[in-house]
Amino acid sequence: MPRTWLTDRFELDVPVVGAPMAGVSDGRLAAAVSAAGALGMFGVPANASGSWVSEQAAVAAASGRPYGIGLMAWVLADDRAQLDAVLDARPALVSVSYGDFAPYVEPLRRAGIVVATQAGTTDEARAAERAGVDVVVARGGEGGGHGRDEVATLPLLQNVLDAVDVPVLAAGGIATARGLAAVLAAGAQGGWVGTAFLGCAETTLSEPALRRVLAASETDTAYGRVFDVAQRLGWPPEFGGRALRNAFFERWHGREEELGVDEAARAELAAARRDGDFDTAYVYAGQAVGLIESPHPAADVVASFAGADELLRRFA
Ligand SMILES: Cc1cc2nc3c(=O)[nH]c(=O)nc-3n(C[C@H](O)[C@H](O)[C@H](O)COP(=O)(O)O)c2cc1C
Repeated sequence: MPRTWLTDRFELDVPVVGAPMAGVSDGRLAAAVSAAGALGMFGVPANASGSWVSEQAAVAAASGRPYGIGLMAWVLADDRAQLDAVLDARPALVSVSYGDFAPYVEPLRRAGIVVATQAGTTDEARAAERAGVDVVVARGGEGGGHGRDEVATLPLLQNVLDAVDVPVLAAGGIATARGLAAVLAAGAQGGWVGTAFLGCAETTLSEPALRRVLAASETDTAYGRVFDVAQRLGWPPEFGGRALRNAFFERWHGREEELGVDEAARAELAAARRDGDFDTAYVYAGQAVGLIESPHPAADVVASFAGADELLRRFA
């Protein structure tokens, strides 16, 4: 594989970060991705305790390879327990995204941790560089989970590569060796990949959720705030989420104000999450979900990205 800042910094075989996915990637997936030669991360859910973070860090560290942890800035503003547990665990990489991440950059860097944040616009990438992050993730709107939906990966990446001097990783829609080769050729130091790992046995996805992922095509996702509003989560409104479109989303999209005070809808979503009813409950996924056709171990997904090397050599 081509050597890049990412592979050199973390001694990886493949220039891929397994993106943090709260509620889907815990320490087990992170360990599997790292053991396979990429950089595995786990995502810290909004309501996770410091001790949960410590436990999952121990699981991720068991691979003996570098791993990372993804935090949400809007959560840290009210409670430092997650951050303190991360500082104790000292993973190789930490991302702080979605909100005011700047106050956390220096404490993390002082602990010897490489700091990343996801940027959804070029202005956000410039602000991230000014705040002192080590690496900026240019994340396009086709990506799964939360983020902005203002710019797609390719135009964002082209702009950000010219706008900042720090290393740039590309996120949103990268799920095969072709996608990875494209962003490496453009100048990214690696891919930040979430959705492509949704078909892995090492996620925490339930069997019915996995079936939805495998059945979904590239046009089956939708972006919005429906699920966050229904749960009364404190997400900053500029960060909606991309998930598999379902009946609950269709019913409430465009009526979020009403949804925010509808107690029956809130209870309906909570019950559906408990029961695994994905006509109502959400499965966060990006447009690349259409590329996942069968379940694979994380090691196979990582190995499949190594094909980028051959694609890049064709044009060398
Ligand atoms: C199920 C799911 C959960 C996610 N949770 C988080 C998270 O907790 N923290 C975070 O920084 N990003 C999260 N993301 C976003 C990813 O970090 C990344 O931006 C995205 O997956 C990249 O696009 P892709 O899904 O097309 O690969 C999540 C993505 C998915 C699919």
